[in-house]
Formats: sequence, structure tokens, C-alpha cells
Amino acid sequence: MSAIPVAGGGKVTVPEILSWKNSSAEPSEAKQNKKITCLTAYDYPSARLLDEAGVDILLVGDSLAMVTLGYENTLPVTLDEMLVHLRAVRRGTRRALLVADMPYGSYHVSAEESVRNAIRLVKEGGAEAVKIEGGERRMELIARLVEAEIPVMGHVGLTPQSIHAMGGFHVQGKSAEAARQVERDARAVEAAGAFSIVLESMPREVAERVTKALRIPTIGIGAGPDCDGQVLVYHDLVGLTLGHRPKFARRYANLASEISRAASDYCADVRAGRFPSDAESYHSPAELHKELVRPGE
Ligand code: KIV
Repeated sequence: MSAIPVAGGGKVTVPEILSWKNSSAEPSEAKQNKKITCLTAYDYPSARLLDEAGVDILLVGDSLAMVTLGYENTLPVTLDEMLVHLRAVRRGTRRALLVADMPYGSYHVSAEESVRNAIRLVKEGGAEAVKIEGGERRMELIARLVEAEIPVMGHVGLTPQSIHAMGGFHVQGKSAEAARQVERDARAVEAAGAFSIVLESMPREVAERVTKALRIPTIGIGAGPDCDGQVLVYHDLVGLTLGHRPKFARRYANLASEISRAASDYCADVRAGRFPSDAESYHSPAELHKELVRPGE
């Protein structure tokens, strides 16, 4: 595993992310530039490209279960599988803060096991922070992780690991009571010591209210423009999502059609004898050439 780059020289750190929230005295243009950008990443080349493009936070999300492993939800991915992807992203990341999702089951049994699993993500995977889903009921665990020197990103609203409890992927906080619960959850995550929090799939007004109420930055996905930052899933961003794409997932490129085109052009060229060309072939040295062309002469 490559070492985590040291702070300085533009490296994004946890204290820096926190400080961006607290720049409220600055004029609005400067504040706007400090909106936090976060994208998911699952492998070395995408991590390098996203990091070099200046994304502030790379999240090895458990969404990899769906977008790279083809599962229907995020529940099946294991800690060991997360570690394989995390190490690849670590090798491709220099500037961005690297956050790893704790997958379902890795923090649901006991506090000891949860802390041990989070430490694996830091020690073996090179994560600089972990993300866990859930609000009030995660307070104790968040405090334990912070005590173990592991910065925590919270995640409330739609929490995909609760798919069975929630009865599907639904927008949260749509009634007054549900909105109050989202706010209670977010406040609990902050009180427990998290350094930032993802707000997923909720009315923008609820996210705005939570963002104003918290001292830690909110990072929205399907939560409107008033959060302190935004996160998108890489495959949605670049147009590689093959199934349902939620309405908030703006597509900035269409790589799926590019890849399909490249693959069918390749097949056509191979079948027609156009690939490889002579220029794409290795040539034998003159001596060997003679031997091969007129063997035994
Ligand atoms: O796993 C993931 O991709 C996430 C983001 C949607 C925040 O948790």
C-alpha cells in the first residue's frame, strides 16, 4: 500500500474540511468556492483522475456493491472486499481526503468489533476517515471511533443499509415529524464528534435547515443546493450506471455509449482483419525473418 501523503502542499485534511464550514464571515463568492466536492471512487485509475481533477473528498462508498459488483443493494459487500477497493483508491490518491464506508455488518455487532473493523480500514486500507450510516442510535459508536483517533463522517436521511427497515429507497423527512427526526439524527451525529455528515435524499428545505443548525459541514446527495458540499456516485457522474438513475444524479459524461461503441468497433475490426495492423505488430530481426520466411535454407 502506498503511504498516505503528508499534510501540506494542498493535501485536504479533516481540520481543513471543518474550517471550510466556518468561513461564514467571508464574502459570498469566496464561500461558494469553498463548497466541498466529494465523489465516490472504487479503483486506481478513477481515483487518480478524480484526485488530479481537484475533488476534495474521495469516498470508497459501499455503493460499490451495486455499481461495480452488480448487487441489487449495498448489503452484501464485505469488509475484505471494501479493503481491496480502498487500497486501489489509496494508491491513486494524493490530494483528496480519503474516506471509507463501513459496510453493513461491520459495525452492527459490538463496539469492540466495530472499532477493530474501522482500524483495519485505516491501517490496512489507508483511509483517513470512515463513514457510518445512522443518527441517534450511532452516537456511542461515533464517540468510540473518535476516541480511537478515527475521524467519522455521519450519514442520515436515506441510509441505504436500512433498505429492509425503510421498505426501499425512499426520500426521507417528508412529514413534519420525519423532518424533525432527520434534524435530531444530524444533531446527534455532530454531538458525538463527527467531522462532517452526508444528508441523503430529503427535501432541500430540510437539508437547508439542518445545514444552518450544524457547525460541521453537510454534504448532500439528493438534498438540494444549500448543503456545504455535494457528493455523487462516480458511475452516475460519468454515465456508467446501467440501472435506475435518481433524478438528482446529473450525468456529466456518457461513458457507457463510448465503451459500447469502442467494443463494437473493435469486434468489427478484428472480424474484418483490420486489427491489428502491421504497424501494431512486432517485427522479427532481419536474421530471424530470413529463417522464418525460408526455413532451412
Ligand atoms: O456508498 C455511497 O456511495 C454513499 C454515497 C451515496 C454518499 O454512501
